[in-house]
Amino acid sequence: MIVYLTRKEKFCAAHRLWVKEWSEDTNVEVFGNCANTNFHGHNYELSVTVKGTPDPLTGMIINAKDLGKLMREQITNVLDHTNLNLDPSFLSPEIQTTTENLVVQIWNQIEKHLTDCKLHCVKLVETEKISAEYYGE
Ligand code: NI
Repeated sequence: MIVYLTRKEKFCAAHRLWVKEWSEDTNVEVFGNCANTNFHGHNYELSVTVKGTPDPLTGMIINAKDLGKLMREQITNVLDHTNLNLDPSFLSPEIQTTTENLVVQIWNQIEKHLTDCKLHCVKLVETEKISAEYYGE
């Protein structure tokens, strides 16, 4: 029996999408407002889903409190109120800080610290209209 459990945490951060080999016009055409020179912020919502068999005694696959603590310590406290492009963190400095790239980097960081159950999905909501999910494939 496999059950999926999802925990949500939030953080706010600034970023900018920019390809330095491109002209300003091309960057603005491709990235829109996300190419703004002086950066801009998002209120990110991070959902982490783990899977496993509930423990017969506790009924839990992982204590949701512990999962929340791991997410805060490893991800949201690290990224909150930072500039994702400039501030040092677990993010690779050379990546574009798109939602797609962020979910992969967040997955790798969480997976390193997760014991007892398996990571299933990392979902990051950037705006009401945009989110990305990664399943480790
Ligand atoms: Ni943006």
